[in-house]
Amino acid sequence: MEVHNVELVMSAVDPKQYPTTGQPEIALVGRSNVGKSSLTNVLINRNSYARTSSQPGKTQTLNFYHVEDALYFVDVPGYGYAKAAKSERAKWGQMIETYLTSRDTLRGVISLVDGRHAPTADDQQMYTWLSYYEIPTLVVATKMDKIAGAKWNKQLSLVRKTLSMGHDGDLLAFSAQTKAGKDEVWQWIEQHAFG
Ligand code: GTP
Ligand code: MG
Repeated sequence: MEVHNVELVMSAVDPKQYPTTGQPEIALVGRSNVGKSSLTNVLINRNSYARTSSQPGKTQTLNFYHVEDALYFVDVPGYGYAKAAKSERAKWGQMIETYLTSRDTLRGVISLVDGRHAPTADDQQMYTWLSYYEIPTLVVATKMDKIAGAKWNKQLSLVRKTLSMGHDGDLLAFSAQTKAGKDEVWQWIEQHAFG
């Protein structure tokens, strides 16, 4: 999809604030600093629409980006919650769980992992959780510009194995810097949002 129009409709903490158009939603999840906002910006052809930051954990609300008046990207606050205070962790978990398990219009989740390393325990937990709830999931290994092209396949295999994805789990390599993988990610989104 060639995006011309995008609008941040809502930073929501409460389900009452979620959009009511009924249009499909694709959520982006992943550890703080993994590149969720950067991926969003590439998908919508903006340099800095979704706020990126070197300070992890800045995004604390569900941010709904309305794209081409047709679907929403939902930027979910980054986890890494193992280190956060127990009360914070509980609050985060409750908001995300409520959203991911009870949102009728949610068509799929893009789960980002850092392509330079093996997925963390948090990444594994998230993928297991999404699988348990049978939420269609695309794993995106990002920051791949930091990895030599010859090592991409090996790295993707490591991601697949560490997450116990099996052969048919959806996995793509991506770089916000080179925009590698952009078309493939869009293809997955369109298939799941409108397919
Ligand atoms: P939170 O909102 O805090 O959860 O972080 P986020 O997941 O939205 O990460 P964000 O997009 O803000 O990116 C974090 C940092 O990683 C920024 O400095 C980005 O420039 C950098 N970054 C993101 N994607 C890439 C990529 O594909 N390649 C490289 N080299 N850097 C990236
Ligand atoms: Mg962000």
